[in-house]
Amino acid sequence: MDIVNPAVSDYLLTHCTPADDLLRELAAETREAFPEAAGMQVSHDEGELLTLLTRLAGARRVVEVGVFTGYSSICIARGMPADGHLLACDVSDAWTAIARRYWKRAGLEDRIELRVAPALDTLRALPADPVLDLAFIDADKVSYPLYYEEMVTRLRPGGLLILDNVLYGGEVLCPGPPGTGHAAVRQVNETIVGDPRVESVMLPVRDGVTLARKR
Ligand SMILES: C[S@@+](CC[C@H](N)C(=O)[O-])C[C@H]1O[C@@H](n2cnc3c(N)ncnc32)[C@H](O)[C@@H]1O
Repeated sequence: MDIVNPAVSDYLLTHCTPADDLLRELAAETREAFPEAAGMQVSHDEGELLTLLTRLAGARRVVEVGVFTGYSSICIARGMPADGHLLACDVSDAWTAIARRYWKRAGLEDRIELRVAPALDTLRALPADPVLDLAFIDADKVSYPLYYEEMVTRLRPGGLLILDNVLYGGEVLCPGPPGTGHAAVRQVNETIVGDPRVESVMLPVRDGVTLARKR
């Protein structure tokens, strides 16, 4: 299912602040190095949304789950002040090797700390204090409900949680087989909409982006 008409999608891409040379190069290198996986990268309009939201939230303490080759990390880190800290979680050394290289070239390596390990372990090892300003979830869909719970408890009041792929290609309209990413995304969507701890909205940006602000 096209969430947004493809012609409108193209128009959206050409009507946001354009990607600079570094982001264009990162996207091209990712396509070249990992053609099968390159579609996982956030699109540029979504990247700009991340930069804007990070900046608008004044976010300094940020966690990202799902780095891949680092496009979304760069977009988030560019929205943070110079003393901001982004904890970036992923399980792949190969994909994040590219990310590290581009973070350095972007002059952001001091703001981004990479943790290569299952993100749930990383999140559960964080202090329980609600100090996070912003969190972005874009990793294995089957764990979304667990990531949500670990993140929402650690967000400060007024902190913002952003989840990608919440429309799951439109499949969320129907129930999915238990234990699948499809079912997990539907589950987290229901949890969020009924969760008194947050106020939320789901945007039809690309594959669907939820913004949930902790009360
Ligand atoms: C959709 S991609 C992230 C795309 C990235 N946000 C970007 O803009 O390029 C999902 C990433 O989640 C990672 N991932 C999958 N399972 C994970 C896990 N259990 N813990 C941490 N990362 C995981 C994958 O290695 C992959 O890099």
